[in-house]
Formats: sequence, C-alpha cells, structure tokens
Amino acid sequence: MVTGGAGYIGSHCSKTLRKAGWEVVVYDNLTAGHRESVKDVELVVGDLGEKDRLDEVFSKGRFDAVMHFASLTYVGESVKDPVKYYRNNVSEGLSLLSAMIDHGVKNFIFSSTAAVYGEPAIQPIPEDHALLPVNPYGASKFMFERIATDLSVSHGLRPVFLRYFNAAGADPDGGLGEDHDPETHLIPLVIDAALGRRGSLDLFGDDYPTFDGTCIRDYIHVTDLAEAHLKALDYLSDGDNKTPEAFNLGAGSGFSVRQVIETVEKVVGKNVPFSIAPRREGDPPELVALSGKAKSVLGWKPTLSSLEDIVETAFRWREKHPDGYQKK
Ligand code: UFG
Repeated sequence: MVTGGAGYIGSHCSKTLRKAGWEVVVYDNLTAGHRESVKDVELVVGDLGEKDRLDEVFSKGRFDAVMHFASLTYVGESVKDPVKYYRNNVSEGLSLLSAMIDHGVKNFIFSSTAAVYGEPAIQPIPEDHALLPVNPYGASKFMFERIATDLSVSHGLRPVFLRYFNAAGADPDGGLGEDHDPETHLIPLVIDAALGRRGSLDLFGDDYPTFDGTCIRDYIHVTDLAEAHLKALDYLSDGDNKTPEAFNLGAGSGFSVRQVIETVEKVVGKNVPFSIAPRREGDPPELVALSGKAKSVLGWKPTLSSLEDIVETAFRWREKHPDGYQKK
C-alpha cells in the first residue's frame, strides 16, 4: 500500500515499485494528489483518518508493506496552523498504524524529512544527530517516527524512516512530475521564472553565513528517492528481526540558491529574473546529508542527482506540462 501515491514522491515511487514487479494499491484522498499521476495501479480514494475504509482495503488483500507518503508538507503553513499539521500528520496517521497492527502488516516505510533535525549543529548531518525540529511540520514527522518506534516495541512494527532532503526533478520517462498548488519549491519556481511564466523570483536572503550568502540545500532526484524506497522494502522483506532505522536520503553535496539559478540558466538557456527578498521564516542556512548509511546498509546509490540532471528533468516536465496534470 502506498498512501499519498497520487502525490509527487508517492507517484514516482508507485511507478518504481510496479517496474520492479510489485503489486501496488494507492490510498490517497486526492486533496493534494492527482488522479492522473496514478498509472497502472488501483487507486482507493480515502482519508487517513477513515479507519473503516482502511480496514476494508487491508482485509481485501495481503499487504507486504505500507509506504506512507500522505502528509501535509508546507513548513510555513505548519507554523501558521499547527493543529492542521498535528491532526493530519500525527492524529490521522494513527488510524493507519492501528489498521496495520489489526491486520498484521508490520513493514512500514515512512516519509520523514531533514526538518526533524531543526537547525543542525554540524554539516553534513548524520542520522544520529539530535532531533530538534523547529517547526510543527518537522515536529509532526519527528513525533510519528517516535510513535512508530514505540509500536515496534509493543506490536512488532518494523519501521524504516527515510529522511528526505530536497526532493526535486521529474520522471526521466516524462510521465510524472511536480505539480503543487501553491508551488513553493525553488527549482520549479526558478524554471518558471526563466520561461517567463511568472515575474521575477524572490531570492529569500543573501546574508546567510554561507560562501555566497544564500541558503545551501542537498537536492535529490525524486526517482533516486523512489529507488531508495524499493531498497528499503528489500531490506525489510528478508524476514529478519529489524530494529527501527533512519536513513538520510540526500546526494551528499550542497548547492546554494544562486548556484541553482545559474544551473537553470545554463540548462534552459535563458536568464532568470530575480531580486533579493527578506529571509523566509524557518529556513536553516544549510542542510546537507551525510548519506553513507543508506549506501552501506540499503545498497542505495543515487544516479540521477547531479544538479544538471535534476534541473534538466524538471525543465522537460514543466515545458511539456505548463499547467501540471491538468494539461493532458
Ligand atoms: N527559495 C527562494 N525563493 C523561493 C523559494 C525558495 O529563495 O521562491 C529558497 C529557500 O529560501 C531555501 C531554498 O530556496 O533556501 C530551497 O527552498 P525550498 O522551498 O525548495 O525547499 P526547503 O529547503 O524549504 O524545503 C525542503 C522540503 C521540506 C522540508 C525542508 C526541511 O521541501 O519538505 O526542506 O527544511 F521540510
């Protein structure tokens, strides 16, 4: 089962699972996801909090694992409306965990985030860094990791926490891509600015303590993220007892906002109009993954995560789908 399988990362993951021969059921309420992104797999439309609906789905099939992508993901919105985030990402998510326990499904792969580290004391960030989230979004993910860990002790749940850094790029085959409303992520916004589809880009802060004053992030291709989920599933599928494990999913190199703009200019072949704006609340200066654990334990190796490949695939998606999935 892939919850949130109609969303950006979940849809890429469903595709990767299908290619690897897994049968997939997508469970999604379609508030942020897109029906058009669910291809060749069954879609069940439902909310996370609908225990009866989940029971119905679980009792119909034999599920090897649940991959849980469905969540709210806007840091800024979470600061303004924490209840919404704790309700959706924690409280409603509990129905999913409790349905899994009731139906004997133990393998759980959870979409976590670099936001669980808050403002890290060291870079690159190792998985055993203190978890000190600084916004309700990060705190909701941290809490859910904690709850799943407690359930591993009480009910034998076997959770793996995949802490994404900056997911970006699009399916290299062209059928899937990023389509958020509103779009807040840097790469699609810079591409749209280059294509003249929006005004000048606001660059949030050029006075950070980084080499060029702008924030540094670790961009990871969405298809590489999907591959990591497949590896995590293989890791859990061997039947051995597993303690809960967390893995950073990043490419391990950081790029500044200015470097992203330069790369987009090179790939698209157009200048990006931008102006310096005030810092955005809650943005840490630098987030870069120490990503060796996913490589050594899961055997995962990103292959599409050079910044050029990420921008190239994202550009192709936006060029062909200027209105996202609305444009057939
Ligand atoms: N940025 C701009 N202008 C924009 C948009 C973004 O300058 O219009 C900058 C941001 O300030 C940041 C960088 O570009 O420095 C990347 O911003 P994104 O919004 O693309 O991504 P974030 O790093 O804010 O967010 C990501 C994930 C979140 C996760 C967070 C952890 O998307 O889910 O990392 O801090 F919570």
